[in-house]
Amino acid sequence: MEFDAIIRSFYKKHWQIIASQIRSVNEIQCPKRGFLFDCGVTNKETLIDLLTKLKVNKLISKQIIVAAVKEDFFILNIEKFYQKDSHIFVDVSGSLEKPGNFKLNDFNIEKHLEVIRKQIISFENDLFVDLEISEEYCVPTIFGYLINYPVLYYYNDENDRNCLSLVDLKVFQIIRDDEILISFSIPCEIFDQNKEIQEKISFWLHHFQSHDEFEVKQFFTNNPIIILHERDEEARAFFEQACENDHRNLRAYQNLQNIKNKMARWHFKMLNDSSRNLSFKRAIQYWIKNGDGIIDVMDIGSGTGLLSMYATNVAKVKTKVKNIYAIEFSQIMADISAESLSTTEILMNDMFLEYLFLGNLRLISKRDEPYDADYVEKISDFKLVTKTVETIEVNFNNLESMEKYFNGKIIKECQLESEVNNDYIDGFVVWFSLYLNEMEPENIISTKPKSGSCWTQAIFKLKQRVLLQMYQIVKISVSCKEGVLKIDRDLDINSDLVDIEVDSNILKFLNDEEYLQELEFSVSKHKSKIINCLDFSVFPYVGLVLLKEGRIEKLWCRKKDELLVKEIASRNVIKESGFEFIDESMIDRLNIKFELIILHPFLSLGDLDNQMVCNFAKYRKLQADGGLLIPNKVTLFGELINSDWLISSCRITDADVKRLKIDKFINQFATEVHLDLDNSLECEKLTSAFKISEISLDDELHESSLEVPLRNTNLPIHAIFYHHKIQLTRATNDFVTNRKSKTSCFKRTAQVLNSELIIDGATVKISFTQNFGIVKCDVLTTC
Ligand SMILES: C[S@@+](CC[C@H](N)C(=O)[O-])C[C@H]1O[C@@H](n2cnc3c(N)ncnc32)[C@H](O)[C@@H]1O
Repeated sequence: MEFDAIIRSFYKKHWQIIASQIRSVNEIQCPKRGFLFDCGVTNKETLIDLLTKLKVNKLISKQIIVAAVKEDFFILNIEKFYQKDSHIFVDVSGSLEKPGNFKLNDFNIEKHLEVIRKQIISFENDLFVDLEISEEYCVPTIFGYLINYPVLYYYNDENDRNCLSLVDLKVFQIIRDDEILISFSIPCEIFDQNKEIQEKISFWLHHFQSHDEFEVKQFFTNNPIIILHERDEEARAFFEQACENDHRNLRAYQNLQNIKNKMARWHFKMLNDSSRNLSFKRAIQYWIKNGDGIIDVMDIGSGTGLLSMYATNVAKVKTKVKNIYAIEFSQIMADISAESLSTTEILMNDMFLEYLFLGNLRLISKRDEPYDADYVEKISDFKLVTKTVETIEVNFNNLESMEKYFNGKIIKECQLESEVNNDYIDGFVVWFSLYLNEMEPENIISTKPKSGSCWTQAIFKLKQRVLLQMYQIVKISVSCKEGVLKIDRDLDINSDLVDIEVDSNILKFLNDEEYLQELEFSVSKHKSKIINCLDFSVFPYVGLVLLKEGRIEKLWCRKKDELLVKEIASRNVIKESGFEFIDESMIDRLNIKFELIILHPFLSLGDLDNQMVCNFAKYRKLQADGGLLIPNKVTLFGELINSDWLISSCRITDADVKRLKIDKFINQFATEVHLDLDNSLECEKLTSAFKISEISLDDELHESSLEVPLRNTNLPIHAIFYHHKIQLTRATNDFVTNRKSKTSCFKRTAQVLNSELIIDGATVKISFTQNFGIVKCDVLTTC
C-alpha cells in the first residue's frame, strides 16, 4: 500500500496535510523535526496504528514516534534530536509593551528544552512517548522547539497572554506542492535590529532554498490578535465568545468576520439561485430514475453537498444506486458538506458517502484570469454592439472533447457583426448556457446578461476603445487552456504603446480624475515650502507631479511601488535620487519631518484601512511645523436600506435549501460586513443619507448614538449602506465617496443586520462604536 493511501485509510479529512507533514518530518534533509497534529481530530491509538502501518510497509524511518505534549500530539523524528543545539528566544510576555529578545539560558529555558530532548532520544525503541512537562515550562516554546523554528517565542504569563497584538510581523512560509509545511514569524523590529537573529533565520532558510522542491514565501502581517497555533474552528468559537463578552471588542469582531470570509461568498448567491437549483435537481432526478443501471454517483465540486443530497433523495426509492461520492477540495466546504450530509436523515442504509480530495486538480482557482468576473449589467451604459455568436461547445460526457478544450488545442475563430454605426466597442462579454439533460432540452441554465442568474459574466476589456461602423466584422479567436478562457482579437494590435502590468487598484485610482484633481487642488492651496513629501496614497501620483514640477525635493513612497514609480519617473525625466522607498512598518523609526503627508485610509473594497487609522498619531508626529496632512477629517454616513439582493448574497434564503438544513451549517459563515458595493446596489432606501459619526483618527474606543427618521416603514430594514465624506484639508470642500461617477475608485460597504428589523415607529436608534480603527453600528428600535 502506498504512503498516501495508508494515510487516507486513517484520515478521510485533511489526509493531504497529514501526509505532507509526516513526509517532511521523515525526510532527513528537511529541518522540520516535529508535526503538531492540529488539523482535525485524532487520538493516541490511531496515530500509533498509523505509524506502525507505515513502518511495516517501510515507508517511514523507525525513528518516527508519537509524542503527547499535554493534550496535543506530535509526530517526531528522534534522529533529528540527537544533536544538541543552542537557541535564540524572543520574550512575548503579555506584561511587556512590545516583544523583546533576551539572552540564552535566561529563565533556564535551555535547561527545559534539554530535559525534553533527553526524554525524546531515550524512547528510541518505542512508538509513543508522553512527554513530562513541568508546570513552569512555556508550552509554545516547546512546540517551537519540537517543530524546529529558528527562533523561539517565550512568555511568562499565567493567562497565556502575549504582547504580539498589532505588532508588525515578518512571516516566513515554507511551501511544498501547495501545502504550507512551516509558517514561522518574527517581530519586524526585532528582525531588523538583531544581526544574530537574521543570520540564524537565513541559515535555517538556506536548508530549504537549496532544494528546488521547497518554495520560501516572505510577507508582513499585523494581526490584531495572535494565536500561537492557527486553528480556524477554535479561533471562530474564541472570537464569537469574545464578541459576546464584550461587544466593544471590535478586534474580535473583525477577526470573526475574517475567519468566516475564508469561505467564498458566492456560495450564498449560488445556493439562493432557486432556478439553478431546480434545473440541477430535475436533471439529477431524471438520470437516477431513468439512467440505465446507475450504481455510482459522483458529485465533483460538491460545495455544501446540495447536489449529493438531491441525488440521495431520489436514489433511496427503488434504484440501483449504491454509492454517492462527494468530492470537494476546499477544506471549509468539505467540512460543511460533511456536516450537512451526515446530519440529514435521508441516507439509505446500504449507501455510504465518502469524501475524496482531488488536490492535484487545483488548476483553475488561484490563477489570475485574463478577464473580470462581474455582472456586466452593473456597467450603467452597457449595451451589446454586435450580434451574439456561439463560441465553444464542450461535451461534459465526452472526455476527449473536454481534454481538447482543456489543453487549448481547439481554437474557435468567430466573426462578430456590428449592429451599431459610429459607436464604440470596449470589450467582449462571455457567458454560457448549460444544457443539463439532452432528454429534457428545455432544462437550460443561461448566465447571459440580465438573466438574474447567480453567475457573473466574463468581461474581457480592450486596452483602448475602438470605433465600429454598421456591419463591420470583428474577428476573434476563442480558446480555453487549463480551464482559463482566452480571447485573441486583432483590435488591440496596432498600437506603439508598451504595456506595463499594474495592480488594478492603482489603475482605478489613477482613473479617478475627480479625486486626483481634488487632491492636487488641496496641495496647491498650501503655499508653504515643501522639502519632503510622504505620499502613501494608493499610488503617489500627486507626489510624482510635485517632484516633476520641482515643487518638492524628495518624495517618500511605498517600497512595493518602487518598480512602477521608477519606470514612470524615467519616462518623465525625474531623477531617481528624488525618491526614498519605505515600508509602512518603518514609520515610527523615521527621523525626518515632512512638510506634506498624503494618506488614503481606505482599502480597495471600500472599508476603512483600520491599521492606517490607528497609525494616524504616528504620521502626525512626522508632520513638520506648519506642514499639511491629508486627509484632515473623515466622516461616516449611512442610509438604511431594504435589499433582497444583499441578503441573498450573505445568507441562505432559498426555502428548498433551508428544508435540507444546509442553512444551519453554511449560515455560520454569514458575515455582517459586505464589501465591494457601489451605487448600483439594488435596494430600497428607507432613510435619507445621515451622518453617523466623524471617524476618530486613532486607535481608541469611541461610542455615540443617534436617532434617524424613517421615510418608509413598510419594508423591513436589512442593512446600513455606508459611505464617507473626506475633508482633504481645512481649506477645501468635502469629497463624498458615493458620487455618481463611473470612474470612482471608492467602493461602498454595508453592514447587514443579523435579522431583519420590522419597525412600527417613525424613527430608529443607531449606536456607533469605533475601536482600534474598526467601526460597527447597531440598529435598535426606539419604542
Ligand atoms: C460552483 S461550486 C458548486 C457547489 C455545489 N456542487 C452546488 O451546486 O451547490 C464548485 C465547488 O467545486 C469545488 N472545486 C473546484 N475545483 C475543484 C477540484 N478540482 N476538485 C474538487 N473540488 C473542486 C469548489 O471549492 C466549490 O466548492
